[in-house]
Amino acid sequence: MTQQILLKDTTKGTVDLETYQKKGGYQALEKVLRHSQPLDVIETIKRSGLRGRGGAGFPTGKKWEMVATHRELERYLACNAGEHEPGTYKDRLLLRLNPHQLLEGIAIATYAVGARESHLFINGAFSEEIAIVKQAIVDAQKHGLLGHNILGTGFSCDIQIFLGPDTYVAGEETAMLECMQGREAKPKHKPPYYPTVYGLYGKPTVVNNVETLSNVPPIVSNGTDWFRSFGTKTCPGTMLFSISGDINRPGVYELPLGISLRKLIEDFGGGIKDGRTLKAVYPGGPSHAFLTPKDIDVSMDFDSLKVIGSGLGSAGVIVLDDTRCMVEQTMNFCNFFRDESCGQCPPCKMGTHYLHQILEKIETGHGKPEDLRSLQQLSGFVKGRGDCTVITGAAVAVECSLRHFPEEFESHIKAHRCTMKVAS
Ligand SMILES: Cc1cc2nc3c(=O)[nH]c(=O)nc-3n(C[C@H](O)[C@H](O)[C@H](O)COP(=O)(O)O)c2cc1C
Repeated sequence: MTQQILLKDTTKGTVDLETYQKKGGYQALEKVLRHSQPLDVIETIKRSGLRGRGGAGFPTGKKWEMVATHRELERYLACNAGEHEPGTYKDRLLLRLNPHQLLEGIAIATYAVGARESHLFINGAFSEEIAIVKQAIVDAQKHGLLGHNILGTGFSCDIQIFLGPDTYVAGEETAMLECMQGREAKPKHKPPYYPTVYGLYGKPTVVNNVETLSNVPPIVSNGTDWFRSFGTKTCPGTMLFSISGDINRPGVYELPLGISLRKLIEDFGGGIKDGRTLKAVYPGGPSHAFLTPKDIDVSMDFDSLKVIGSGLGSAGVIVLDDTRCMVEQTMNFCNFFRDESCGQCPPCKMGTHYLHQILEKIETGHGKPEDLRSLQQLSGFVKGRGDCTVITGAAVAVECSLRHFPEEFESHIKAHRCTMKVAS
């Protein structure tokens, strides 16, 4: 297993400042502050090919450049540690195990884009991680590595912690920024409300995920060729894959992007639990189409998964064995989307509600043949019709189940009960 970039030295718990510095920590920050112009740092990140680990896989250097070259000089940076998606646990782990690498990444990004303020938005339910990060900030400040006039270079960076609500939508970048300004965590429509243009206080803002920013110090220290020696040509580096579900060894694994899904499940996850066989796997959390066994040789990277109609998201891999009922599974995910819908877009508010309602009817044995048509029509109608991807996630989950396992829906309706439960 490769553990070179993010989870290095984390086996004994939180890497404290002393240990982090002994292994070269904060040297990347010192290097850029003493020897690089901000635009050179951006060039390095662009050349590294680093892509956002929060879900969309957007090129990080390009995002920084958009903000750094904006004619508005009042700019901000916000690190996103909202993490509320089922099956994803990696940001929480990074906050807990390697807080200084993140703080160093934030400070470098702040310098590169010329941000006036830097914020760390953390899911308020992560109480232990919040305490760990707060302590790490105090320790770094004491050693002149954060705060005013860092290392005597004249550069200052105070990282402000914002405790966000424990909801899924609050992690969507525009909703997060709304929340940080004292408003409800509700997404804004993109375009025009891209954070790089209309971000915090209406000013250009870089929003990056915890894992994305944690990649920055090692890239600066070791160079872009080193970083590109992991992963694929278009998706370099490693990724933290959270593997859960019906698997022998659930956990978070740092592995190069481009590893095959089969290897991830069989070699690292230890295969399917209790000697069962694989039925379906969500390679990128519940918002992206699941795959069936015929597709598990796919390369786990943003581009390859997109080509086959799915997505990597934030690499929350959810594995289902052959005893699982896909009607129930889809119903549970739609229940999540319904509960987490912020309610501002009618197609999402009503769509998630009705999709869940119909699925529940079928799962509990009250479905009628015409319900299948309603599910198809409704999911087709609501897909893509919200200010964020919550409703699309629900629609995709339904469409994918209907496409791959139509007979399961039909048998529930015919038998007036959940046929999988009796079979297993
Ligand atoms: C419903 C929803 C929830 C999201 N939750 C998170 C989250 O918890 N953390 C995160 O980094 N990105 C999350 N995102 C993605 C962010 O909107 C944004 O793309 C990301 O923070 C950008 O950082 P990156 O470029 O480093 O990936 C979410 C998106 C959606 C639509």
